[in-house]
Amino acid sequence: MKFLSQLEKKHISGRTFLVRVDLNADFKKGTSMFRLEAVIPTLSFLIKKGARKIVIASHRGRPERRAKRESLDVFAPIIAHRTKKEVDFISAYRVGTLADEARKSDAPIVLFENLRFFRGEEVNDPSFAKALASCADIYVNDAFAVSHRKNASVCAITDYLPSYSGLLLEKELAHLSRVLKDPEHPFVVLIGGVKISEKTAVIDHLWKLADLFLLGGAAANTFLAAQGVPMGRSVFDKKVIDKMKSRVFSPRIILPVDGVRRRGAVMDIGPETAARYAKIIASAKMILWSGPFGLFQENDFSHGTEMMWSAVLKNKNARTIIGGGETIASSRVVSGFQSIISRRKNIFLSTGGGAMLEYLSGKALPGVVALEKNKIQ
Ligand code: 3PG
Repeated sequence: MKFLSQLEKKHISGRTFLVRVDLNADFKKGTSMFRLEAVIPTLSFLIKKGARKIVIASHRGRPERRAKRESLDVFAPIIAHRTKKEVDFISAYRVGTLADEARKSDAPIVLFENLRFFRGEEVNDPSFAKALASCADIYVNDAFAVSHRKNASVCAITDYLPSYSGLLLEKELAHLSRVLKDPEHPFVVLIGGVKISEKTAVIDHLWKLADLFLLGGAAANTFLAAQGVPMGRSVFDKKVIDKMKSRVFSPRIILPVDGVRRRGAVMDIGPETAARYAKIIASAKMILWSGPFGLFQENDFSHGTEMMWSAVLKNKNARTIIGGGETIASSRVVSGFQSIISRRKNIFLSTGGGAMLEYLSGKALPGVVALEKNKIQ
């Protein structure tokens, strides 16, 4: 794979770069800014090394038709503010027009409208990718979070341009590959949230690598149901129960001993569980966390997730990787956590949700494979 970080000024200066980023998120959750901030180093790097123009492309949401709430126009002033450069926002009905307008623009940064407003993007259409590629000299994938999707601006585009991993993608792969190749022990995995089958695929793949799995959320409910514990109206997945049978009574799977319920459904881990989990987290040398441990958006059910954040932040030595939009958003349960996290060198927040889970389940990410195959100079 070719890395942007290895390109010198002479390779960058005077060239136009098409940079695929991931600005897909909900402003209310605060994850949009997190993902935007994460690609600023790549934009600054290109600006500093004299790129002629940077064309930024992303998707937002899963729109069925063009809708204002999924437009990327809101990001133009924010990117202009963060880079101190003029940003030209380009919207069109044909991808060829987008590319033409980008070529004509005098602005140093161009931001394209949501690529999922165009039919070719999600079907990995080669002609869509070719038209997109026509506005640039070099393609950069800095969108780890969408690299599990076979989309035209992530995969097919690499057939038309010299293609590089951006600084963020490089960082994501460095952190996540170390989890799979070189974990420190005790390696403790925290699994919460609601995406049960994706999470159990991660447990499967990490089974030989990790020491303990602390479960919360729907994953915990599913394991408890498999043990025969009545789970009432709690969210769990019956289909996954059969698949996990061999792991259900393993001493390495640590399950809640108490919970906070609403109308018969478990909504959070209880205080005794949180205290037990905090003790285990304190002795970890490596921590991986995906998925909040309760419905943290509601005060009554945020205590478990808050306790997990406190425990993780207290352990200043463990190499810690945390990912998923909800998990990152849940750090806001206590004001002040986010500034502590940003200062902590041992913590890496992944911008990936589904992409991180797929990577940690051992699946090859199509966007990464496409970069590896790219031989265009
Ligand atoms: C994400 O938020 O996980 C990525 O942007 C991918 O979005 P998608 O699941 O809609 O493809």
